[in-house]
Order: sequence, then C-alpha cells, then structure tokens
Amino acid sequence: MNAVFVCFTGTGSTKMVCEAAAEAFRAQGGDARIELLRADRPAPDLSDADRLIVAFPVHGFNAPAPVLRYLKSLPASDGGVAYLLRTSGEPLSLNDAAVLAPARMLRKKGWRVAGDLHYVMPYNIIFRHSDGMASRMWRAVLARIARDAACIAAGEGSLPAVGLWGRTVSAVCRIEHPAAPLIGRGFRVTQACIGCGLCARSCPQGNIRMEGGMPVFGGSCAICMACAFGCPKDAVRTGILNGWRVNGGYDFGAPPASDREVCAYCRQSYLRYYHRAEEDTRRTESLTDGA
Ligand SMILES: Cc1cc2nc3c(=O)[nH]c(=O)nc-3n(C[C@H](O)[C@H](O)[C@H](O)COP(=O)(O)O)c2cc1C
Ligand code: SF4
Ligand code: SF4
Repeated sequence: MNAVFVCFTGTGSTKMVCEAAAEAFRAQGGDARIELLRADRPAPDLSDADRLIVAFPVHGFNAPAPVLRYLKSLPASDGGVAYLLRTSGEPLSLNDAAVLAPARMLRKKGWRVAGDLHYVMPYNIIFRHSDGMASRMWRAVLARIARDAACIAAGEGSLPAVGLWGRTVSAVCRIEHPAAPLIGRGFRVTQACIGCGLCARSCPQGNIRMEGGMPVFGGSCAICMACAFGCPKDAVRTGILNGWRVNGGYDFGAPPASDREVCAYCRQSYLRYYHRAEEDTRRTESLTDGA
C-alpha cells in the first residue's frame, strides 16, 4: 500500500501534518511519500499511488488556486482512491466548503473521494496565535494521526455535508483566486531586507526573483504568505493585506495552552476541537491498556 501526499503549503503547516501522516502510514507497514506542489517541480508521478491524498491550507473557505489548477491537469484514474487533507486556522465548519471544488474535480477525473481530513493549525495571516495554542493544535494532530492513517489505508472515511450558507460564503470568497496575483503585485520589501533570498527560495509559485540582491514580486502570487512569514528581518510588506501580516515561526513544542488560555476568538469551537482529539487519545490509550 503506497500513499502519495500531493501537498500545497505556504508556511509549512500542511506539510508538517502530511509528514506526520506519512510517518504514521509507514509505522503501519505502508509506504508513503510527499510531493510538494511547486512551480519549480514537475507534476508528481502517481502511477504507483494506491492512495492519493491532496493536501492544502484553506484559503478564504476554499482550496488555493494552485491546487485547483493541479487537479484540472490531473490524469484520469480508473477508480483510484483519493482523500482530501486540509489545514485551517480555525475549526469553524465554514471551512468545510473548501472540499467541494477539489472533490468535484477528482470525481470528474474518475477518482473515488473516500474522505476528508481536517486539522487546525496556527494562522499564518490575520493574527498570530500564541505558541501555546500552536502546541495544543499540534498535539491534537498527533492524537488523531495514527487513526486517520489507518482509515486511509482501509479506504474508509467521509466528506462533510456543506449547507447553503457555507456554499455561499465560499463562493463569494473565491474572489481571492483572481485577486491574489493583483494583491501580490503590491508586495514590497523595506530597508530591513538583507537580500538573503529566503523569500525567493520559499515561494511555491516561483513569484519572487532577486534583482540586484533584492526581491522583486511578479504576477503569480497565491497569497500563501511564505515570504512574509519566513523573512528573518520581517521586511516583506504585503500590500493591502499588510495589517494581517504574521511573521516568524511557531514553537510547537511550547507548553500547550490550557482551556483558560484558549484564545477568545472562536473559543468554543477550538475547545470542542481539542477536547474531541484528546478524548480520542484517552479512548485509544484505554483500548491499548486493555489489550
Ligand atoms: C490567504 C489565506 C486565507 C486563509 N483563509 C482561511 C480560512 O478561510 N479559514 C481558516 O480557518 N484559515 C484560513 N487561513 C489560515 C491557513 O489555512 C492556516 O494558517 C494553514 O494552516 C496554513 O497552512 P500552510 O502553512 O501549509 O500554508 C488562511 C491563510 C491564508 C494565507
Ligand atoms: S527573506 Fe526577507 S531579508 Fe531575505 S531577501 Fe527576502 S525580504 Fe529580504
Ligand atoms: S510571493 Fe509570497 S505570498 Fe505570493 S506566492 Fe510567493 S511566497 Fe506566497
């Protein structure tokens, strides 16, 4: 059994989850590899894939445009088994609408879409979560990942039911797809830039070129935020999104936020998400103890 994770990631969170899932898959006796969707890499060869897992961060209650472009060019399959794996900054069910277009496109190509795996990971835009929140999110991922990998191997799972409200919000927010290249044209760097080129190397779209030792932004931005997030000097200014800029990685090994420390924004929703994952761990541990 070979699982191929085709992963679009901006700031690395979706890739982290894919790596944990691939490791769990291998621990259960399968093979797994991760193929990053990047402009500088060829389309992945799926000829040996028993399971295709298309992984992406939710962007504006949708899959990012590069993911949809990839699915459009995906070769037809004769009933291959596919999953969607998504990360998002908050656990709201509005994010479920992000599976609609990718699931439809996969089915059109002959894949059986067996399930959707949704993990909450810290925001890379809008505001910065605390390291404690990031750490608790990561623990929730680890609590679920072995069971989710087993589901993938067994071909089990389900897709969320998305209501009219979710579909409408998602359809309106899809404006992000044509808007992203225009917004990206407004990105600039400040005097703090040291010309290290990290932003250019990390851009999955190949949208940044170094000219005279300084980054210049082109017209294929997918507003993944890798450049602004990863800049060691916080020198990237993201045009009209600058007020939502988040810079610097999270410490996933920090002491996890207690229930009381969970951020006020969508608090109940985060608590439900964490408690469900933690309950799963307790159940698995008691099954293991009883075995
Ligand atoms: C342009 C953009 C739009 C986003 N929209 C949403 C959203 O609609 N809902 C949400 O929960 N998180 C949203 N996020 C947060 C990301 O989904 C989240 O931080 C994700 O884990 C980032 O994954 P990555 O590091 O693999 O890029 C958005 C992030 C970006 C950059
Ligand atoms: S990562 Fe930051 S410091 Fe390095 S080249 Fe890009 S903008 Fe400049
Ligand atoms: S320019 Fe920055 S935000 Fe746009 S795709 Fe590249 S790394 Fe992502």
